[in-house]
Amino acid sequence: MSSSRGETERVTGRDFQTRKARGERLVVVTAYDALFGKLVDESGADCVLVGDSVGNLLAGYETTLPVTLEQMIYHARSTRAGVKRALLVVDMPFLTYQVSPQRALLNCGRVMQETGADAVKLEGAKENILAAVRAVTGAGIPVMGHLGFTPQSALTLGGSRVQARDADGAKQIVEDAKALEAAGVFSIVLELVPAKVAARVTEAVSVPTIGIGAGASCDGQVLVLHDLLGLNEGFSPKFLKRYASMAAEVRDAVSRFGSEVRARSYPDDDHSF
Ligand code: KIV
Repeated sequence: MSSSRGETERVTGRDFQTRKARGERLVVVTAYDALFGKLVDESGADCVLVGDSVGNLLAGYETTLPVTLEQMIYHARSTRAGVKRALLVVDMPFLTYQVSPQRALLNCGRVMQETGADAVKLEGAKENILAAVRAVTGAGIPVMGHLGFTPQSALTLGGSRVQARDADGAKQIVEDAKALEAAGVFSIVLELVPAKVAARVTEAVSVPTIGIGAGASCDGQVLVLHDLLGLNEGFSPKFLKRYASMAAEVRDAVSRFGSEVRARSYPDDDHSF
């Protein structure tokens, strides 16, 4: 691992390849701000993803489509302030990379320049996306791909559902992954894909696959932080495992604070000047 920012050993895109070659699993977690970015970084995750799921989680949007480039830049810059070691990847929002390779390069370049991110993530593998990946990687910007359920296409995919379920779909996603690899991505997120199909994709490419709802054979796993912390109670897909129950803890803490204020027991002498 390189260490271009001082003493901290920083994870790089090249480390991703090495990990796959060694059979070591990669851990990816989302964050949208400096505080959680720091906590995730300190927890030892290999990669922090500033996902456009920020639109669902923090802005309360139904889909990720309304998320803007300015919003992603704001959240990425905030997260960068907390992340010193893990690889920081930023989701490119809807319509910032699909229209033309030139626009994709300018928008990705803006994200890199204005946020200090290490890489960007683009969804899909249609010809326009492959052209964008070639343009962006050609300029030296590392790109993570994203196949299977791609949330920015939720409306045409019929909502959040498992993809590549039949033989044709499975063949297509393997082809798409190979095309993304040839275009230059350093890793590929596989979202909502049958475990056997994700295993085939993982075998077919030399870049690491990062699964979310894609079974145990992927080279790494990603979860949305607010989901794994149990902060997002309304979201319970089969793949999600909650490692904490923080929504209940937040309600309990705030309600105890309220009770003590109403009972005039807070602030007491210990918490007064
Ligand atoms: O936006 C996001 O958080 C993502 C992950 C779910 C992979 O793309």
